Amino acid sequence: MAPRIILIGPMGSGKTTIGQKLSADLGIEFRDTDQMIVSQSGREISDIFIEEGEEAFRSLEKIILRTALLEDSTVLALGGGACLSFDAQSAIRASGAFTVYLKISLSQVSARVGFNQGRPLLMGNPRAQWQSLMNERAPIYEGIASYIVEVDGQSIDDISSEIAFAYELRSRGSIDG
Ligand code: S3P
Repeated sequence: MAPRIILIGPMGSGKTTIGQKLSADLGIEFRDTDQMIVSQSGREISDIFIEEGEEAFRSLEKIILRTALLEDSTVLALGGGACLSFDAQSAIRASGAFTVYLKISLSQVSARVGFNQGRPLLMGNPRAQWQSLMNERAPIYEGIASYIVEVDGQSIDDISSEIAFAYELRSRGSIDG
């Protein structure tokens, strides 16, 4: 076994909030790669980026992703960049988890308070940075997703129940992936 559901998508798409709700609805544990990195290293993500650089963060993230993929029966939220490498994509596919892409628009994400707080990759011009990352990453998110949720305008409760329903259908063999 492995995580049951993996949430992927860009910064600000609500992976952590939705993952917590979904895991409570399903009665299973919640894991979040960013939170695992912070608790394992004892440092904030932004401090790791600033003091050691992105490459060091990605090495740590890779190790944490492997650990998280070995944990059974969880809802696992991934940092926005954790699924991008070829290795990560293969490992996520091999886990057999139901991988859900939380798709959100720039206008919706930038309306969120604190959108760029603690997110080193969005420093400077958060909207432009976010959009430029999305131009590169959207095809990867789409490529590994078993299911895509359009989160714009939907409540946390609605998104969680949509994912739980899609997961149930997949478990019964109605959705591939
Ligand atoms: C990143 C996303 C962040 C965090 C780090 C890098 C990215 O996680 O892992 O700042 O590369 O998209 P969230 O997507 O949870 O904000």
